[in-house]
Amino acid sequence: MPLFVILLCFTFTLARSTGDVTDFVFNGFAGANLTVDDSATVTPDGVLVLTNGTYLMKGHGVYPSPLHFHSPPPSAVGGTVLSFSTTFVFVILSEYADFSSYGIAFFVAPTNDFTATLPSQYMGLFNTTDVGNATNHIFAVELDTVLDVEFGDIDSNHVGINIDGLRSLTAAPAAYYDDDAGSGGELRNMTLISGEAMQVWVDYDGTTTELNVTLAPLRVPKPKRPLLSHAVDLSNVITATSYVGFASSLGSMSSRHCILGWSLSLNNGSAPSLDYSKLPNPPVAANGNGWSKTVVEAVVPIAIVVAIAVVTGAFVFALRRVKYAELREEWEDEFGPRRFSYKDLYHATDGFADTHLLGVGGFGKVYKGVLLLLPSASTATLEVAVKKVSHDSRQGVRKFVAEIMTIGRLQHRDLVRLLGYCRRRDELLLVYEYMPNGSLDRFLYDRDDRNLKAADAALDWSKRFRIIKDVALGLYYLHNSCEQVIVHRDVKASNVLLDDKMSGHLGEFGLARLHDHDANPRTTRLVGTIGYLTPELARTSKATPLTDVFAFGVFILEVTWGVRRR
Ligand SMILES: *[C@@H]1O[C@H](CO)[C@@H](O)[C@H](O)[C@H]1NC(C)=O
Ligand SMILES: *[C@@H]1O[C@H](CO)[C@@H](O)[C@H](O)[C@H]1NC(C)=O
Ligand SMILES: *[C@@H]1O[C@H](CO)[C@@H](O)[C@H](O)[C@H]1NC(C)=O
Ligand SMILES: *[C@@H]1O[C@H](CO)[C@@H](O)[C@H](O)[C@H]1NC(C)=O
Ligand SMILES: *[C@@H]1O[C@H](CO)[C@@H](O)[C@H](O)[C@H]1NC(C)=O
Ligand SMILES: *[C@@H]1O[C@H](CO)[C@@H](O)[C@H](O)[C@H]1NC(C)=O
Ligand SMILES: *[C@@H]1O[C@H](CO)[C@@H](O)[C@H](O)[C@H]1NC(C)=O
Repeated sequence: MPLFVILLCFTFTLARSTGDVTDFVFNGFAGANLTVDDSATVTPDGVLVLTNGTYLMKGHGVYPSPLHFHSPPPSAVGGTVLSFSTTFVFVILSEYADFSSYGIAFFVAPTNDFTATLPSQYMGLFNTTDVGNATNHIFAVELDTVLDVEFGDIDSNHVGINIDGLRSLTAAPAAYYDDDAGSGGELRNMTLISGEAMQVWVDYDGTTTELNVTLAPLRVPKPKRPLLSHAVDLSNVITATSYVGFASSLGSMSSRHCILGWSLSLNNGSAPSLDYSKLPNPPVAANGNGWSKTVVEAVVPIAIVVAIAVVTGAFVFALRRVKYAELREEWEDEFGPRRFSYKDLYHATDGFADTHLLGVGGFGKVYKGVLLLLPSASTATLEVAVKKVSHDSRQGVRKFVAEIMTIGRLQHRDLVRLLGYCRRRDELLLVYEYMPNGSLDRFLYDRDDRNLKAADAALDWSKRFRIIKDVALGLYYLHNSCEQVIVHRDVKASNVLLDDKMSGHLGEFGLARLHDHDANPRTTRLVGTIGYLTPELARTSKATPLTDVFAFGVFILEVTWGVRRR
């Protein structure tokens, strides 16, 4: 082998010195002094690796000196291009079994400086401005593994003949005609990125201008019938002195494009045969598995990540669905505008935080909330009180909501306004206007001795009188001004709320009915508060405006006296 290399070098040196190289053979490129650039290297084994796997790189391996392609006298463009014949062995080691990144081109070009060219689909031979321009004088045979619609590619596994650009004069899917006896010259498909070594022959006849391109698996004798046969006059394409070599490039897929051996002849005959036994082995990855992974292997980790993301997303979504879940039925449509979304209420009360708790009443907890009136403007807000009422009976709730919303439509300055509601599975949320001073009983009873004076000042006699009048007017309105008589059923100090000016507003109307609905309708249960109930109510269980008036009387005593009835 060393003798062979020395001999080879000697031959080239001799040939170059005479400026008349017409033949060469590389059974591997060890010590061959190829001109390589960018990502291209020659491994110690002698493999010309054009692309080393780094994305968006290009690489070239070029015969070190230009060759004389024109028959003498060597004129510039326009002379007769000599017949030439070349053959090479390549292997494409793709990261994925079914995707690769562009491919390899054998080229004849007037220069070996490819700094102005682009990788990816430009194959390291052209750029966006010069592609297709006849001034390029580039002849190429491409082994293309990417379907590029821009350049009219037929598929992602083809062999094409290109002149000055990337749109092939002619192309065919990678295949060869099997000369084996019995096969009848059948066309056998090949996969360029299979990772198998393959051989290409390019033969040009300068007299007939016939160009043949033949492909076959390594060690299969050159098929008699070429894959491509095309008449093309290269005398206007190939300049008198031209460089020959290989160009290759990567896009966003990693693969290694390798040349294992190469020979060429300008001597009006076939390219010298390659000695397959001397060809280097294609590089193998350290994992021993080769570079080829199936796409499944590559996709599985991605799929797992995606699956985790989807599951997490679905979980969060489901959590939100559960968190903000509401109960909404058809019959509620008429209350549509009064219907609040649970999500809005949830955010208005900071998730029904204890810090927002205004009080715990007989029907449930009451929270203070701040609703954004316009989602876009954080300044337009409304303070509300949200009462969470738990319930079990669904039928009861329908009637109750209908009733409470009817009452909610009532607008009277002495009634606490019901703004709307929201319904969840076992919960009804009632949204009231917010009363800054809370309920009256707080002023009447929850006083410690130190603040006695302040409390008395806040609730002097004139204020108490006004509150009594407010409640009287509110109650009168309920009893007399609506289409149907509305019985409050639970008039008492704790159901009277005070606004910022200490005016009284009667609240909680209708709520007492909820207990009614929950119970068996035929055994109407007593509702109201012990101490405020008329004696006969205990017998008849029938609430009337008069029972409200009785309770109101107790309420007057309560407010004037300041003592809770028990
Ligand atoms: C490929 O070659 C380029 C240019 O020489 C270099 O920057 C890069 O690190 C190489 N990549 C590998 C994987 O060797
Ligand atoms: C390799 O080729 C280059 C370009 O032709 C030349 O300058 C250089 O001397 C050659 N080196 C060897 C060791 O032949
Ligand atoms: C394209 O390549 C040509 C040489 O073929 C060069 O003159 C030109 O500047 C390049 N254009 C770009 C945009 O790089
Ligand atoms: C081809 O390239 C030449 C020189 O670079 C330039 O003058 C000419 O305009 C180009 N032709 C086209 C069609 O781009
Ligand atoms: C060979 O490839 C061609 C085109 O790529 C396809 O139409 C044909 O079915 C293939 N034949 C076989 C035997 O796979
Ligand atoms: C091209 O192939 C055809 C068919 O095998 C053959 O007759 C012809 O001589 C070949 N031409 C060259 C230049 O190899
Ligand atoms: C090439 O060979 C053919 C026949 O084998 C012959 O007719 C032709 O003149 C030769 N051309 C050269 C330039 O030697």
